[in-house]
Amino acid sequence: MAIEIKVVAESGIEDYSDAIDMGFYHPQNRGKRGARRREWFAEDLAAGRFIAAYDGGRVVGTFGNAANRVTVPGGASVPTAAVTAVTVTQTHRRRGILSSMMAAGLRQSADAGEPLSILIPAEWPIYGRFGFGHATDETRYVVETARCALARPLPGTVEFVTAPQWVEEIPAVYDRLRARTPGAIERRHQWHERNTGLLTWDGKPTDSELFLAVYRDESGIARGGLKYKFKDGLWDGFVPDGTATEVDLLAEDAVARVRLLQFLWEQDWVSSFEVETFPMDDSWRHLMANPRYARAKQRVDVLWARVLDVPAALTARTYEGEGRLVVAVTDPAGYAEGVYALEGGPGGATVKRTTEAADLTMPVRTLGALYFGHHAATALAAVGELTEDKPGALAVADRMFKTAIPPFCATWF
Ligand SMILES: CC(C)(COP(=O)(O)OP(=O)(O)OC[C@H]1O[C@@H](n2cnc3c(N)ncnc32)[C@H](O)[C@@H]1OP(=O)(O)O)[C@@H](O)C(=O)NCCC(=O)NCCS
Repeated sequence: MAIEIKVVAESGIEDYSDAIDMGFYHPQNRGKRGARRREWFAEDLAAGRFIAAYDGGRVVGTFGNAANRVTVPGGASVPTAAVTAVTVTQTHRRRGILSSMMAAGLRQSADAGEPLSILIPAEWPIYGRFGFGHATDETRYVVETARCALARPLPGTVEFVTAPQWVEEIPAVYDRLRARTPGAIERRHQWHERNTGLLTWDGKPTDSELFLAVYRDESGIARGGLKYKFKDGLWDGFVPDGTATEVDLLAEDAVARVRLLQFLWEQDWVSSFEVETFPMDDSWRHLMANPRYARAKQRVDVLWARVLDVPAALTARTYEGEGRLVVAVTDPAGYAEGVYALEGGPGGATVKRTTEAADLTMPVRTLGALYFGHHAATALAAVGELTEDKPGALAVADRMFKTAIPPFCATWF
């Protein structure tokens, strides 16, 4: 029987939900999460943003083309599809089902006027073929607490809060961070409730298992939050060798970040801990006396971007330096294909289709990679990801596209 790609009806959410859990290797969750998915993702469901592949009556592929907004360089918040919950049932893989769902998802986004689509890939090789390019990274750290110290005294206070207080205060912190961080997406209010264990799959709150602390600056304004659990280690009559686990640190600025790290590294019984989802901008390390004790453990690629509407995407962002470039974009799916004259700077940009000869030629995935400001065009050209047709054009692209502060997607979706 032919595979059919369809928008999921409200009544089909239970089967869709089971297919997600099956595809993500959690068969034990089947039959248990449909009702929550219906409730939590009601807007996307109602808007037809859940796409499924059906083999007869059975869901064998899932594709959440969730409507969101993403901040781009310069601070504009651009409508986007934050693609999520992409699975194909194990019995049906490698027969083109993801390719068909992706085609439907990109079409839906383009029709909705979304200039780009974003996702976080489970594996590097999956999405380049669909026009997505690697756009942001994050760093993970191991902190050895005994040797950590501040480089100089830092202001502000840290105090524990309840989960309801957290949900009251932290969204504003995140929203300020999001507004000036390219690569950051919106978090719905309910996201914060799930993040603090107030809303759970089985309806039983788990917030009492968490330590939740808020950092406030000298004027009392919340600038960051720290969420963690504590795990006992082996005491063995020596030192209590415990650790903080599931550490989740949100900080508006470097001072908030380091004050919250300090709060944890100064705690008795915590000998070391790991943190994930830290930005590539690591200037906060200068606030530590010896930042080598916050050791970078791993670098992870996070956001990938796919440009659908070149003029809309390129005019939404600003550019670090003034410049003019004629860019030829190749896109077998058609959305971004064309030659465009981009003229831009810190104040904004204009983009027009043109018949001029190209200064740079790139596949659409490279445009997605350059878009958020993480990569230098010169570096990507050196590994064959784009070509310079006019001498000097790469240097102009570096000055325009690459941002002084690297983009950061603080939200896994
Ligand atoms: C990743 C996944 C969705 C791919 O679905 P699929 O229906 O098998 O993909 P398709 O058949 O449409 O594959 C299209 C192409 O991508 C390639 N591809 C697909 N998944 C790949 C992977 N994980 N690694 C490398 N290449 C992959 C295929 O080989 C195929 O290449 P070809 O056109 O050269 O033959 C599916 O394997 C899956 O559910 N994996 C587990 C969950 C997961 O990782 N989801 C993604 C979350 S971001």
